[in-house]
Amino acid sequence: MPPRPYVLLSCATSADGYLDDASPERLILSGPADLDRVDEVRAGCDAILVGAQTVRKDNPRLLVRDPRRSARRAARGLPPHPARVTLTATGDLDPGARFFAPGAPRLVYCATAARPAARACLGDSAVLIDAGDPVSLGFMLKDLAERGVARLLVEGGARVLGEFLAAGLADELNLAVAPFFVADPGAPRLGLPRLALDPASPMTLAETCRVGEVALLRYLLGPGGPDHRFLRWAVELSRLSPPSDSAFSVGAVVVGEDGDVLTTGFSREREDHDHAEEVALRKIGPNDPRLRHATLYSSLVPCGARASRPVTCVEHIVAAGIPRVVFAWREPRLFTDGEGAEQLRAAGVAVTELPDLAERARAVNAHLVGTGV
Ligand SMILES: NC(=O)c1ccc[n+]([C@@H]2O[C@H](COP(=O)([O-])OP(=O)(O)OC[C@H]3O[C@@H](n4cnc5c(N)ncnc54)[C@H](OP(=O)(O)O)[C@@H]3O)[C@@H](O)[C@H]2O)c1
Repeated sequence: MPPRPYVLLSCATSADGYLDDASPERLILSGPADLDRVDEVRAGCDAILVGAQTVRKDNPRLLVRDPRRSARRAARGLPPHPARVTLTATGDLDPGARFFAPGAPRLVYCATAARPAARACLGDSAVLIDAGDPVSLGFMLKDLAERGVARLLVEGGARVLGEFLAAGLADELNLAVAPFFVADPGAPRLGLPRLALDPASPMTLAETCRVGEVALLRYLLGPGGPDHRFLRWAVELSRLSPPSDSAFSVGAVVVGEDGDVLTTGFSREREDHDHAEEVALRKIGPNDPRLRHATLYSSLVPCGARASRPVTCVEHIVAAGIPRVVFAWREPRLFTDGEGAEQLRAAGVAVTELPDLAERARAVNAHLVGTGV
């Protein structure tokens, strides 16, 4: 079991970094296209966390809206909606809030001193967890991992986002920037304490794109620099693979020379026998000249032998001219011989193995190989 979930921070800000204005009504920063994108992100997570102030002020539902996405979750053996999580020092929460509505498990991490009052007020509308005094984010993440949360979406507000960033406990930040200013110093703003800033260790910008009227910036964070960050992202993609008893779940990310993500893929993404690397290369087209300077990140070493199709992923990679491959987990001898790394090296491809991420990649396949490296 990985020690903590992958933590994805998601928020929308104005062009000057505000998460809301200072009025009692919630400021809508995203349009329909961006809300739909967030719905897709929600559908890929095990739990959604918001701070107690967001529960009080915004009263969010925290549900997957599109029933097709809930159905896809069901096909992966997941409940239709992620669990809802909040944390509080005061315990001041209204059991009538939408957060506590049925439809998804509710978890409240509460400071020790406030627990009796919170229990009296919330009754059995949520699982109330004593998270220490002061509440420890580290304890909360460990406890969530033990409850089976592998992927946690943190949707705000300002204090909670800042705390995850300052504590170095975020793996990804999806920032949707709206095309207007708030310019109100009294409004909540995305930020973190000055002391926690380290200009020598910037976030890795993995993607920029337009979603309706907002600009989406996807940053990767966490230890180890770009190689570790992109590979952790590939491991996360592997979780989206439709389950199979006869093939691994693998994720792949291909990154161009300038750091732009060129394409991604996961096992069985389009067709039953798709391998992650194969589908990623098919999406971009194997003749794309950018591939000749790219790095391919794969949660599992690319296959050097396969039963399902005639061309192996090693052959696809060599044919596309990709000069570098980074992977996390060596293939156990379960389905094939797994000589992919050696074959790539023999073909002149630079291969880097990051074994500290092997357990994460393996955990996604625990139904095939059990637990423990
Ligand atoms: N634009 C967006 O994407 C977005 C998303 C979400 C929210 N928002 C906005 O953000 C604003 C709310 O942000 P906010 O900073 O005021 O509040 P917040 O981050 O939502 O919640 C803060 C509260 O969470 C609890 N909390 C946080 N860290 C804690 C810790 N380490 N230990 C114990 N309790 C902890 C405390 O609850 P108690 O007070 O109960 O002790 C604290 O007051 C709202 O205006 C909302 O509209 C915007």
